[in-house]
Amino acid sequence: MNYGGTLTQVLVPGKGGSLDDLVLGFDSIAGYLQKDNPYIGALIGRYGNRIAKAQFTLHGQVYRLGANDHGNSLHGGWKGFDKKLWTALPAITDSSAALTLAYDSPDGEEGYPGKLHAEVTYELLANNALQLTYTATTDKETPVNLTNHTYFNLSGGREHQILDHVVTLYADQYTAVNAALIPTGELPAVRGTPMDFTTGKPVGRDISLVPGGYDHNFVLRKSGPGPQLAARVVDPGSGRVLEMYTTEGGVQFYSGNFLDGKFKNRDGKPINQHTALCLETQHFPDSPNKPNFPTTILKPGDAYHSVTVYQVTLK
Ligand code: GAL
Repeated sequence: MNYGGTLTQVLVPGKGGSLDDLVLGFDSIAGYLQKDNPYIGALIGRYGNRIAKAQFTLHGQVYRLGANDHGNSLHGGWKGFDKKLWTALPAITDSSAALTLAYDSPDGEEGYPGKLHAEVTYELLANNALQLTYTATTDKETPVNLTNHTYFNLSGGREHQILDHVVTLYADQYTAVNAALIPTGELPAVRGTPMDFTTGKPVGRDISLVPGGYDHNFVLRKSGPGPQLAARVVDPGSGRVLEMYTTEGGVQFYSGNFLDGKFKNRDGKPINQHTALCLETQHFPDSPNKPNFPTTILKPGDAYHSVTVYQVTLK
């Protein structure tokens, strides 16, 4: 959808052959325009996740950003890319099953320097995987961190929470955060802690040991330049398996903690806590203020390029 670059529906056959929708969404634009819509299916920019105190310093200059999250900046500020009208372009591939959306963010928008040209291509590959390719260019140095905020529930009918989904994350560390979900800069090991998803476990097994639930950036193992397997989610009920591959170094695993029944999904049911999960591929949160994290600064003449692939199969 050109509003917010939003992924509205993902229809996948189940064991019985019926097509089920695996993502949260609304059936009209009015649903997406609701105040405080929690970024359902949306394209996130300029900076996915949080930037502490809604500011950063670059070459001695302080940039103040939209402080839309308890004094911090979240998902691009007050009016991020999720609330912009994107322009549909001829897709960058020959495939008929692809859509490219573009957005020109003016210099200074939400406090960010530089005129940023962003594009995202949603493409259904021959093997039925969904590939998202993000690109961006700028005319001034500026932080960029694009992602997508699709909420998955592999059961299709959403008859149960995602607490029984078995998640594997190919990550040995995570970025520790304070109570406001701002990284402390430390990268603790997950092994032997409630954050350990290296061998796969139901989301609900240790969630009570994690204050607020899972809402953390996991540091992905990287073994090459192309998209690498980052996450695997199995829904034992439906037998569906979601695999996610990415070129990014991090993924925010969010267990839908803030969902509170205020919004109704297109199926008419309230979107309650833990009824869907997000896997937001990204650079690490607050990187512009964390010199020990990989840089997110895009320079003029350079091209931002990020690829994430989602594939659903049946066990
Ligand atoms: C997630 C973020 C959560 C919450 C959510 C939107 O990406 O990690 O803390 O802000 O978006 O409700």
